[in-house]
Amino acid sequence: MIYLDNAATTLYKPEPVRKAVYEAMGTMGNSGRGAWGPALEASRLVYSVREKAAEFFGAWGGESAAFTCNATEALNIAVSSLVRKGDHVITTQAEHNSVLRPLYRKEKEGAELTILPVDKKGNFSLEDMEKAVRENTVAVVCTHASNVTGNLFPAEEIGKLCARHKLLFVLDASQSAGEAPIDMQKMQIHVLCFTGHKGLMGPQGTGGICVDPQVKILPFKVGGSGILSFDREHPGCMPEALEAGTLNIHGLAGLGAAFDHLQATGLEKIMEHENRLTEIFYEEVRRIPGIEIYGDFSLPGRTGIVSLNVEGYTSKEAGDALARRYGIATRAGVHCAPLIHQALGTRERGTLRFSFSWFNTEEEIRKAALAVKEIAKALK
Ligand code: ALA
Repeated sequence: MIYLDNAATTLYKPEPVRKAVYEAMGTMGNSGRGAWGPALEASRLVYSVREKAAEFFGAWGGESAAFTCNATEALNIAVSSLVRKGDHVITTQAEHNSVLRPLYRKEKEGAELTILPVDKKGNFSLEDMEKAVRENTVAVVCTHASNVTGNLFPAEEIGKLCARHKLLFVLDASQSAGEAPIDMQKMQIHVLCFTGHKGLMGPQGTGGICVDPQVKILPFKVGGSGILSFDREHPGCMPEALEAGTLNIHGLAGLGAAFDHLQATGLEKIMEHENRLTEIFYEEVRRIPGIEIYGDFSLPGRTGIVSLNVEGYTSKEAGDALARRYGIATRAGVHCAPLIHQALGTRERGTLRFSFSWFNTEEEIRKAALAVKEIAKALK
């Protein structure tokens, strides 16, 4: 199989990640819950992964990072605590439902929402964002990169805009963590929501939320915390405030190894590799008659995604043909990001998304481009 659905999840993981998960099973107890060997090992491990996450994302040290099971949970935690009735929030049409649905829920409860339009190439405008700011605006909540087009959005500029207007900046890094540099302090990001199983190349069921210590996020889930057990309220201090219940220690062992792998390999090198594959694929497919490609390939930064349609096929038909005839795994449809398809004109048939990773080779990319060419021709 040629696996090109890395924006959904990276299927292949670095060997040390797999090994760390395996070894954690049978050696790690429950962190923060016991004072004997494997329990203390688990506590040390969790703390070390917090520090690795904080360092990787330019956060404020280990205590500013709490773990969740994915970016969706992190976004629900952030939105549920930071947006109240009467508040106004700015977001964009490029969002995944993991941003939109928590915000729609808040809208139903009395918050106001501005959804900035994206153009035909999938970009929104910073000017529109600035114009959308009102007296009751409290936050910009948006993605760093589109999971449909691969366009990377200017986080540092959005951070500056938020700082000018004293707004909170909540960034969804689902598609950019491990795909693009993120420095929360430099980019003035107050809350970063990330998942472990995509570009970071960690296990599924891992993710987290990094929070500027000046911002207080209230507990979303409440329950066991390992501290202050006589209190009726869940502790409000980070990171315990956002981590009720037993953590996914085995997954976090893998996530820690994934951060180590990224640091040892170098994010630059990974980005260079994926950019090269993206460029090769884009150059090959854009010449094929009957192919329409979505997104902005003139941007200085992109993630490793090419979304397209093949004339005469819906995206699902083309994806099925690639899977059945060529053993190529892609993702077809609307990718849980409904609003961007209005702008791209793909509401009905969706797009066929190819997404690359560190583990893909140039040979695989050329084979995939050839397969697209053949299915495009087959219909004619
Ligand atoms: N959000 C993931 C994707 O884009 C699953 O495919």
